[in-house]
Amino acid sequence: MCYQGGGEASGRREAGPDSPSRRAFSRLLLAGTGLAALAACTPGSASAPAGTPEPGPSPVTGTGSATPSATATASHPPLPASAAPATARASATPLKADPPSAAAPGPQHSLTDPASPWVVVNKHRPLSPATFVPPDLARPAVRLATSGEAALLNSTTAAAAEKMFAAAAADGVIITLASGYRSFQTQTATYGSYVRTRGRAEADTVSARPGYSEHQTGWSFDIGDGGGACSFQPCFAQQQAAVWAKANAHRFGFVVRYPWMLHEITGYYYEPWHLRFIGVEAAKDMSTRGIATLEQYFGLEAAPGYR
Ligand code: DAL
Ligand code: ZN
Repeated sequence: MCYQGGGEASGRREAGPDSPSRRAFSRLLLAGTGLAALAACTPGSASAPAGTPEPGPSPVTGTGSATPSATATASHPPLPASAAPATARASATPLKADPPSAAAPGPQHSLTDPASPWVVVNKHRPLSPATFVPPDLARPAVRLATSGEAALLNSTTAAAAEKMFAAAAADGVIITLASGYRSFQTQTATYGSYVRTRGRAEADTVSARPGYSEHQTGWSFDIGDGGGACSFQPCFAQQQAAVWAKANAHRFGFVVRYPWMLHEITGYYYEPWHLRFIGVEAAKDMSTRGIATLEQYFGLEAAPGYR
């Protein structure tokens, strides 16, 4: 699988980045089969010696703008969520070929204001101000697998999460809140810990630098399944919680922010646990049109690495 494991240790009660299962997975990767799979989805890594940190994804052309692309379906068919590798698609369909047009359903929102549900934060788009703190942090009434600030979300996201977790429970699926809000200071510590243990290049593939994390906006959170199975690991994608969330999150205004094989656009490997609130209209619209990333939906350039 095209994977680097989770980059979000802070506030967890479930398996952390240095858990035995994660170390076992790392060993498996280095043993051969995993390395081959990793190489298959990471351009340039095939020739790297075992143990060499993966190079960051290569740049993709694109252009920034402020509104969703409505013409994408006309000149460029919607991209399936689990389509060909981003590298292939990026060269065949540059992001700049999807001109933005203000046709997303529902009210329009800012792409830069961290208090906006449409703010796009990635390796090219730091939070402004860098030390932004959501003014309306709240603890959602959901099953928690964390505590302290990590159990907080902004009030809109908290309300939507409550509805989504309840709907999952009604379907017999347990979802837990594993890691929510993260302050600039916490992200500094989280990212720093990855740099110390894995080096900066690898840290950048799984953890945002301080001032560049969606978690700091209160619009994002990571989920678990209640039992800690595969927490922040590749196999979480096959757990009921992740399967349910992938199929249903859009109904409650959420998207899986870092989809499978689209790291060249988002800058991060698949994180089936990381959900992002953008509003019900936009999330449903993305789902209907088969657009998997916010960068593509809003006609923004890909952000594979820091500038
Ligand atoms: N793992 C995500 C990218 C974060 O650190 O915000
Ligand atoms: Zn996350």
